[in-house]
Amino acid sequence: MTSPIRSRLLGTGSFLPPRRLSNADLVAQLARDGVETSDDWIVERTGIRARHFADDGVKTSDLAFQASSKALQAAGLQPQDIDLIIVATSTPDMVFPSTACILQHKLSQTSPEAAGILGVPAFDVQAVCAGFVYALGVADAMLRAGSAKRALVVGAEVFSRLLDFSDRTTCVLFGDGAGAVVLEASDQPGGILATEMRADGRHVDILCVPGHVQNGNILGDPVLKMEGQAVFKLAVGVLEEAALKVLDKAGLQKTDIDWLVPHQANIRIIQSTARKLGLPMDKVVLTVQDHGNTSAASIPLALDTAVRAGRIQRGQRLMLEGVGGGFTWGAALIQY
Ligand code: ACO
Repeated sequence: MTSPIRSRLLGTGSFLPPRRLSNADLVAQLARDGVETSDDWIVERTGIRARHFADDGVKTSDLAFQASSKALQAAGLQPQDIDLIIVATSTPDMVFPSTACILQHKLSQTSPEAAGILGVPAFDVQAVCAGFVYALGVADAMLRAGSAKRALVVGAEVFSRLLDFSDRTTCVLFGDGAGAVVLEASDQPGGILATEMRADGRHVDILCVPGHVQNGNILGDPVLKMEGQAVFKLAVGVLEEAALKVLDKAGLQKTDIDWLVPHQANIRIIQSTARKLGLPMDKVVLTVQDHGNTSAASIPLALDTAVRAGRIQRGQRLMLEGVGGGFTWGAALIQY
């Protein structure tokens, strides 16, 4: 009898744009425009102490390229070894083509042999802050179905471009960055054990960027709008549900989780989820203090940070989970 195909995680990578703004830097910048906030308020309500912003002209595909290059290096692979590219982003370089196609082109130019990555399927996934979990779920399904052997899965954002810096309730929360993983179809045990993707379109309006392009003009208001408390309430409920679902699918218990690698939106949402899963905070990977909320990039950024710090070890079980606009949410249970 043949073993089932699983998606094994070969390598991780991440990238933060160099421009770092501490809360103090942001508070001073906002004060110049008459917007009042404070380090105390931001830390107490969110846990965020700093975030990185990309400079003008730097695009999502640039951050994705850096993170992907590191993930490929960690996996010991070259661009031409990849036969599927999925990018999760809500801040694509263009309306179309996909950021995944732009990334593919950039990776293809790194060496003569790297041109071998051209021709493989490349597409974006749009599920806002749940985007990376969605992208992982899609890649896993394609690998297990035999549609691809080695997938590059990326979460990358320049969320700073969507912020209204006159709205203190949102502009202090987000940052830019990218994270990536390389997956390989394998008949060995471990890898992605179960995934769950969910959405409830009734909540479109509580977290959105309600602008669109029409006849050469931008209509609507193309900046982030959020009803913070409504998002908070929904998020804490659905994250526990998704985590329990993937545990059930994998036939495992809460006590089998070695690390929670959550979407890094807000320390209070993360603490609440950890409590519901019975996990002490020293089993939770936290980067929200340094990165802010980088939307689809936050989970792979946190994952890579913990892997490179030697905290996450081979064989351990990781619960990844994200929630975002849509409303979208999901989880992935991985044996690293
Ligand atoms: N600085 C100082 N004061 C502020 C700021 C600020 N940056 N922002 C809001 N305030 C004030 C408000 O004006 C309000 O003042 P008032 O009482 O005089 O009216 C007071 O602080 C409290 O405001 P609330 O909105 O009630 O604050 P709350 O405790 O709900 O915290 C927050 C706001 C942090 C946004 C919280 O609701 C939250 O974390 N929500 C979830 C947001 C989130 O995680 N979003 C992302 C998830 S999905 C994704 O990642 C895209």
